[in-house]
Amino acid sequence: MRASIRASQGLQGRCKLPGDKSLSHRAALFAALATGESRFENMLDAGVTRAMLDALTQLGVEYEFSDGVLRMQGKGPEGLKTPQAHLDCGHSATTMRLLAGALGGAGVGAVLDGSSGLRRRPMARVAEPLRAMGVAIQTAPGGTAPLQLEARPVSQALMGGSFQLKVASAQVKTAILLAGLGAQEAVTVQEPGPSRDHTERLLAAMGAAIEQVGKYSVRLHPTRSPLQPLRMRLPGDISSAAFLMVAALISPHSNLELADVGLNPTRAGILDALDFMGADIRVFPQAQTSGGEPVGDVQVKSSSLRGVLVEGPLVVRMIDEFPAFAVAAAFAQGRTEVRQAAELRHKESDRITALCTQLARLGAQVEEGADGFVIHGGRPLAGGVQVEHYGDHRLAMALCIAGLRTEDPVVVDQIEIIEQSFPGFLDLLGSLGAEVRRWA
Ligand code: S3P
Repeated sequence: MRASIRASQGLQGRCKLPGDKSLSHRAALFAALATGESRFENMLDAGVTRAMLDALTQLGVEYEFSDGVLRMQGKGPEGLKTPQAHLDCGHSATTMRLLAGALGGAGVGAVLDGSSGLRRRPMARVAEPLRAMGVAIQTAPGGTAPLQLEARPVSQALMGGSFQLKVASAQVKTAILLAGLGAQEAVTVQEPGPSRDHTERLLAAMGAAIEQVGKYSVRLHPTRSPLQPLRMRLPGDISSAAFLMVAALISPHSNLELADVGLNPTRAGILDALDFMGADIRVFPQAQTSGGEPVGDVQVKSSSLRGVLVEGPLVVRMIDEFPAFAVAAAFAQGRTEVRQAAELRHKESDRITALCTQLARLGAQVEEGADGFVIHGGRPLAGGVQVEHYGDHRLAMALCIAGLRTEDPVVVDQIEIIEQSFPGFLDLLGSLGAEVRRWA
């Protein structure tokens, strides 16, 4: 299926976003490791979270999931069964990396595999620290999936230790901490930057002995008590909200209100970046948090944007938002530069090359760098082409949004990929005033 979208009257209205992807993955997996019934509302029902839930089914975990509500009966790590077949993580690196840690900690043998795109993503960064803790885990040659984990007797606890990550990564940090639940000593993870801290907040809410021990350093202490179940309403995904924010900013006459968006500071870098660009965005934090996660409403109006420099810790705090951000940059006056962001080459696509190539096809002036890119924005973009998303859901959404302001429509093919993280994306845009065209 192909699609193109326009918004001659701008985007207006109030809407809610699907539940946060990172939190949904963690909610399901941590609840499976807890003892007792957990309940989560506004759980993301999308391709990537279905991959996690299907894997948990194969591991013998019992749950009900309907209308965004997940009720899960956790039986602790020892309740996980050996799967009868390979666990298919689909397109989801989060599923694969988090499961590797959890199964490594629980001593469950399994093979973790996924789509051809997932098989290209780096997995040695997870396998190496897990191996150092005593998990028998193999990658394919080149440090990629499939991952093979061998079973280990429960009596054989893992070792703890201190791990310094070369690249800030919440997935690697989480894998080590989850393995740490099965360790006899403390586990410390130190990162070069502020990766998202959902794991720390959720594990603390579930009774784990976890503490911050330095600026970007966290420690999990061994305890005998199992994780406690949790009840929580998941906030809307700020990474999904980012596409709507940019859509409203670049479309004249827009005024959008996004309700109940997750505002965790380790995720909210996009709000800072857009603020530096001069975006008319107002944030209304709610007094109460949910599961330790701050939530609020975000109001966005059409704005004239200016180019900015993004580097340092801000890169990590908006690591998934560069596709949306690059579109904002293409319509901002002047030069936008992103640097120290080489990690973008290891996402669902090589997002540096992919963004530069596809924005250039729309008519933007871009320069690709080794660890980032420069966009000279502010001139009209012709559009009028069919673009390529390389199997990357976020690239597909970014290119749809870019088409709101190009002179001629932008056609995005194989739009089904968007369902991986943002089900109903095009319908939602339609309900906010966009003219959405879809055809085979
Ligand atoms: C995620 C962490 C980030 C992010 C991904 C989700 C998570 O990946 O890009 O979409 O839920 O922990 P890295 O840990 O590889 O940076």
